[in-house]
Amino acid sequence: MSESTVFDAARRDAANGTEKAPRAFIKSFGCQMNVYDSQRMADLAAVEGYREAASAEDADLIVLNTCHIRERASEKIYSELGKLRELKEERKRGGRRTTLVVAGCLAQAEGGEILRRQPAVDVVVGPQSYHRLPELLREAESRTGVIDTDFPAEDKFARLPASAPGAVARRGVAAFVTVQEGCDKFCSFCVVPYTRGAEISRPVAAILEEIGWLVRAGVREVMLIGQNVNAYRGVDPAGRPVGLAGLIAAAAAVPEVARVRYATSHPNDMSDDLIAAHRDVEALAPYLHLPVQSGSDRILASMNRRHRAADYLAIVARVRAARPDVALSSDFIVGYPGETEADFEATLDLVRAVGFASSFAFKYSARPGTPAAEMGGQVDEGVKSSRLAALQALLEDQRQAFNRACVGRRLAVLFEKPGRREGQVIGRSPYMQAVFAEGPLALIGEMADVENVGVGPNSLRGRIVSPAS
Ligand code: 5AD
Ligand code: SF4
Repeated sequence: MSESTVFDAARRDAANGTEKAPRAFIKSFGCQMNVYDSQRMADLAAVEGYREAASAEDADLIVLNTCHIRERASEKIYSELGKLRELKEERKRGGRRTTLVVAGCLAQAEGGEILRRQPAVDVVVGPQSYHRLPELLREAESRTGVIDTDFPAEDKFARLPASAPGAVARRGVAAFVTVQEGCDKFCSFCVVPYTRGAEISRPVAAILEEIGWLVRAGVREVMLIGQNVNAYRGVDPAGRPVGLAGLIAAAAAVPEVARVRYATSHPNDMSDDLIAAHRDVEALAPYLHLPVQSGSDRILASMNRRHRAADYLAIVARVRAARPDVALSSDFIVGYPGETEADFEATLDLVRAVGFASSFAFKYSARPGTPAAEMGGQVDEGVKSSRLAALQALLEDQRQAFNRACVGRRLAVLFEKPGRREGQVIGRSPYMQAVFAEGPLALIGEMADVENVGVGPNSLRGRIVSPAS
């Protein structure tokens, strides 16, 4: 392998149809953006001749696409890397080469530190430069510890393989499409503006082209994703500005697209036209993930969220006026520096006032380099744990109440895969709930009206009433 890159060899073997074609395993940690990036890296590997490996043990190229949002996310990756080093050394003794890549936000944030902590790593590549993976692997053939954490001016998406043969590994029925990256909001607790950089929006034409090849691969639902997706400011082919509402309308107009979703949004970017899209665009799912983080105005100000609890409640009211059946979901942080019992109570009050269909709650985790990490009043771990438990219990009650309220209702379910039992299919309701029903596999990729007849801890049981309308 010293003369050619692993990718060159992979391409040759794939072209020859030989069994030697190397295998790539890409493991994703963290958010939806990483899931999307991992798929794009898998496309890249496929074009380069790699076949997909079922596990790291089975792979010649192992990519960990990492997360840095909380301390625990980063530590998990270092422990995984320790295990992979053993695998790599054992292989080496058997004369087989393994290439270990760390991609994603930990790579961006820690760069060379990763190589110091784990020298078995061959390549460190940030979220804005992973399109250069083939070149970086080529470099790694001749020297150890290749790092690329640039924010290059070139358009990463334009450099990634799209409809090239073999690239569109099947995405299933529902797929993510990155439409916006980065964040300019600088919430005091958050690493994203540093790891993902400034906000950029992809042009409408590039997004529609990608949706085009996704639907040809069988996708029927697209989730438009971005760190701050409702700050989307793209351009149409004539160079005119287009916001997220315009983009949603354009995506919904693709005939094969049955459903459109978007995430994650900031309250301050819930524009009038985006709220109106919830009323006007039939294919837009009645579901809004709108993180609020805290219900205390004092904490919201310290977090640099730039809105008050009442502003959030007013937005929720407007979205509900536009689309009465909309389901709300949110993210919360407990134990932010300076959070008192009264601040935490204000968060519980906000939760009670809204009634969420599902949510995520986290203990505040101090991240090096962010303003909140330097603040006084860091909250005791035990206090964080008990607040987290109390908030999660309330959110779980609300989730179950929401699910129970769906029993007896008819919902449009987009079926995605076979169920665990024969004769069953599983799909998603407009509200992201898993719904299983007795039905033929031919329903996969189809929307059907389903009457919900039961509810389990994590899913609804449905009876198919009528096929796609
Ligand atoms: N500590 C805990 N949770 C965090 N989040 C972001 N940064 C931190 C942090 N330092 C949470 C926020 C965000 C979600 C993706 O992760 O709730 O919305
Ligand atoms: Fe992080 Fe979201 Fe705040 Fe941006 S808006 S800094 S991604 S929490």
